[in-house]
Amino acid sequence: MNRKTFLTALGAGALGSQALKAAVVVPTSLCGTEWNHPYSRSTGGAQLAELLCLDDVEALAQRQMLSSVYDFVAGGAADELTIRWNREKYRDIRLQQRVLADVSDLDCTTTLLGKRLAMPILLAPTANHRLVHPDGELATARGAGLAGVTMVLSSGSNTSIEAVKQVATEPVWFQLYVSKDRGLARALIQRVEAAGAAALCVTVDSPLDGPRNRQNRAKLVIPPGVGYPHYLGITAPPTVVTLDTVQAQLLDWRDIDWIRSITKMPMLLKGIMSPADAETGIKAGADGLIVSNHGGRCLDTQPATIEALPRVAQQVNGRVPVIVDGGIRRGTDIVKALALGATAVQIGRPYVYGLAVGGAEGVAHVVKILRQELLLAMALLGRRNIAALDRTVLWD
Ligand SMILES: Cc1cc2nc3c(=O)[nH]c(=O)nc-3n(C[C@H](O)[C@H](O)[C@H](O)COP(=O)(O)O)c2cc1C
Repeated sequence: MNRKTFLTALGAGALGSQALKAAVVVPTSLCGTEWNHPYSRSTGGAQLAELLCLDDVEALAQRQMLSSVYDFVAGGAADELTIRWNREKYRDIRLQQRVLADVSDLDCTTTLLGKRLAMPILLAPTANHRLVHPDGELATARGAGLAGVTMVLSSGSNTSIEAVKQVATEPVWFQLYVSKDRGLARALIQRVEAAGAAALCVTVDSPLDGPRNRQNRAKLVIPPGVGYPHYLGITAPPTVVTLDTVQAQLLDWRDIDWIRSITKMPMLLKGIMSPADAETGIKAGADGLIVSNHGGRCLDTQPATIEALPRVAQQVNGRVPVIVDGGIRRGTDIVKALALGATAVQIGRPYVYGLAVGGAEGVAHVVKILRQELLLAMALLGRRNIAALDRTVLWD
């Protein structure tokens, strides 16, 4: 079957599982420049080296991905204003250069939850990696290993935590959507703990998805054979599994207390945008907070995360680490986030685009670009290590 026939069949949702399997198992080496996956064309290592910044990676991914998959990844809620602000607000912050500091020995390692990180970057949980690459989350985990970063595996992954842990060489955290059935939720928490998840990241910002106009217009079809091994009890979803199918709209702070009581894993709350929620979260036993607006995919017109970060960090006052995600595309964005109180950042869409264009190497390439940009920014700011990235690096 040629690519055009394949995609046509896919768009019509008429593809049999055998055809999908046949399409995804062809080794890249046998494919040359042919398509080896229904959603994106393989990219050789040489081409990766030509992608110099994260926007280059996205531009290539957009050309290669099936447009409905690209729209699923790139899109967000409603008018996508929060998505835009997440990036723009970083651009509004200016940096104060300092000169003639000895920066011959740069060090971007840091510590998070008592563990040494090679750099203050994590891969945020994003669902559906097998829509982007045939190896899905396995390729992401390998890419995280190549790059030396922690991956947060989504509840909505198409690959089980057990399989991911088999190929992972760096810690894997698990992101939890709490099932309406608390028995299932408990079983999943116990399962991921037994599988060796290094932390549990409970997403609290999305009792429901926002109005995902772009995603819904795209009419993405989930091909047969792509499943959700952590969403037990859901069979053959016709579209990407959405939160209202799998998540409790009844989730409240008592559930956070309950989760805290049934696991020994460090527990982080993802989606904290207000100082009041940060305070309650700490009282509920959170070991870390993630300032996130879900990459603008839930409540549109809420502020950029870099605007919320200083308020949350002030309230937290160093009691637990604060991580931030949303709109981070440059090393200078990481500098600004750390200066405003973050211990580390997460990236979402950028590594998904890396996965689309280059599998594990693509994921690693994205992280490598960011790390190099971070080191360059540190050198130009006259700061040798992460601890030195305080508010004085900001212009005002
Ligand atoms: C395609 C996609 C899927 C996502 N899936 C999840 C998810 O399953 N759970 C979750 O907590 N956040 C999810 N997110 C949000 C990310 O964890 C993260 O907050 C966001 O992508 C950060 O913004 P950025 O993409 O601008 O870096 C998803 C984001 C994208 C783009």
